Amino acid sequence: MTDRKFMRNFCIISHVNHGKSTLADRFLELTKTVPAEKMRPQYLNSMDLERGKGITIKMHPVRMCWNVGRLKCWNENDKTFPTSEQSERSNKRSDQTFILNLIDTPGHVDFSYEVSRSLAAVEGAILLVDASQGIQAQTLANFELAKKQGLTIIPAVNKIDLPQAKVEETKKELADLLEISPEEIFAISAKLGTNTRELLEAVIEKVPPPKTSLLDQETFRALIFDSKYDSFKGVICYVRVFDGEIKNGEKIYLMAGKIEGKVKELGYFGPEFLPQQKLSAGEIGYIATGIKETGKVRVGDTIISLKFKVESMPRTETKFLVRGLELPRALAGYQEPKPMVFASFYPENSNDFEILEEALMKLKLNDASLTFQPERKEGLGRGFLGGFLGSLHIEIVAERLKREYGLALVISTPSVIYKILTQKNQELLIFSPGDWPEPSMIKEIQEPWMKLEIITPPGYLGQVLKIFENSEAIHIEKKFFGQNRLLLIYEIPLREIIIGFYDKLKGASQGFASMNYQFLEYRKADLIKLEILVAGKKEEAFSKIVPKNRALEEGRKIVAKLKEILPAQLFSVAIQAVISGKIIARETIKAKGRDVTAPLYGGDFTRKRKLLEKQKKGKKRLKERGQVRIPPQVYLKMFSQ
Ligand code: GTP
Repeated sequence: MTDRKFMRNFCIISHVNHGKSTLADRFLELTKTVPAEKMRPQYLNSMDLERGKGITIKMHPVRMCWNVGRLKCWNENDKTFPTSEQSERSNKRSDQTFILNLIDTPGHVDFSYEVSRSLAAVEGAILLVDASQGIQAQTLANFELAKKQGLTIIPAVNKIDLPQAKVEETKKELADLLEISPEEIFAISAKLGTNTRELLEAVIEKVPPPKTSLLDQETFRALIFDSKYDSFKGVICYVRVFDGEIKNGEKIYLMAGKIEGKVKELGYFGPEFLPQQKLSAGEIGYIATGIKETGKVRVGDTIISLKFKVESMPRTETKFLVRGLELPRALAGYQEPKPMVFASFYPENSNDFEILEEALMKLKLNDASLTFQPERKEGLGRGFLGGFLGSLHIEIVAERLKREYGLALVISTPSVIYKILTQKNQELLIFSPGDWPEPSMIKEIQEPWMKLEIITPPGYLGQVLKIFENSEAIHIEKKFFGQNRLLLIYEIPLREIIIGFYDKLKGASQGFASMNYQFLEYRKADLIKLEILVAGKKEEAFSKIVPKNRALEEGRKIVAKLKEILPAQLFSVAIQAVISGKIIARETIKAKGRDVTAPLYGGDFTRKRKLLEKQKKGKKRLKERGQVRIPPQVYLKMFSQ
């Protein structure tokens, strides 16, 4: 067993695309974790989807070994020598093999829950900043997360090989943020490998060995930070072991899930699963639990062994009783992520509902921030209302359901949760327009507001400000951040930023501006339900909650779009937008003509007239019945804006 003194657990955090996965590649090469012939760029981004989109969606753990020789000097760049304490430490561990557990994390704001879970499993973080971009919105957000977790932070400026790299300027920005001297910041090129070895050595020097929480080494406790489903081995939990050790075949217990399991297999991440005999305190690895009930396993839960000595545990650490045994206290888990954006998922083939349900349960194991509950919508049948962290998250979940489970889906436009205070002072949470109460019942409507932070080079300020024209956003602050960057702070309804906002910002700044947002509070809103009637019949699936002052514009937009995509019927069809029973916009789809007399030839006029009359009657009957069958494709097109 490796002595904990020679273990280091760390992760790499940064804004999106600042080079985390590329730096991880260099570490994999340096430590020879992946043979040279198998190496490929962004090696840890193992999902097809990640490789296709070029972004990290999931955290990826990997275990590396690194043999440290005697340190020649502390920092080869400026030739400063180690302090006596440092050299004493480095002498002691000359030619010592260290176990390094690295977790690569995603950078996009929608996946920050992945980052926060990675941070709880490690003691240190490399904070990476692209020298050509400087500090960006997620640099700040991820730095704050790591600081809160009390991690040792090792700052590094990356991409110093780029001609447009502003190395000194970025170092200064980062030094100001961390309140340290610029000399303490590494300047690296993850692409070329410049100074990456030094950075890895700094992890060993600066990050403390894994901490454990119990005095007793025989009590096993591990924190689940991720999981996935395997049809043979059951749920496979990704864990950080905090106390004791666990062996193959041992009985385990999930404290929050209140379910027993048995270790079917355990091991390290190589990054693929590398089966071992046991996992010990301080280590990061996986445990195949044999548990098939996906709903019982949650990230943030504590796994304990059902074989431990209760007597030897400090009393403060015991709490629960299971089968007469006193169990250790659960480790501090994670804050449940709050889904911010909602969208409905319906299988295109209504027979696929059960497959969709099972797929969502399995996906949730691997994406803890996903929530879902069944619902039913006219025209679409049975489906699920999903809760997500943002619209990129919706896109990724839909794509994973398609790729990994072969599901064709209809997905609604994302929405937020509204709060309604009724005349009877009841508070209702509204997840979809179908639940909107009658206007007479409503006393007050509230909607979520966010604090939005944008970082942009000053040259794009004018363009960026244009995005906020006609918006309800409130400008809070504008300040220079570093020499060449502006930080803009706004308060804005979440409704305004969930659809297309990020793309607009990128467009306005040629990709240079970045954003981050967090929930602020619910505030009073002036909203109304816009309903759509097709041939006089309300189509709830097309209803929308809109600001009162934009109802007319929105109504016109929806009816015009429906007119464009709804196939013509044998009779004319009215499409109407209605608010509080009043029609505010209307379009008509003309009847489609069919030449019922075509099969006739010759001059049989009587028969021709008869047929035409029959058609007229038929059309009238159809119209009276008003039956317009809306094909799923129309829902799909309406939802996907
Ligand atoms: P996300 O996980 O999606 O946030 O991205 P990431 O931070 O893992 O960045 P990634 O490693 O995928 O790199 C993003 C882009 O920057 C890729 O095109 C890399 O090749 C490039 N890149 C990374 N490091 C360097 C570097 O040191 N120099 C140069 N020139 N390019 C780099």
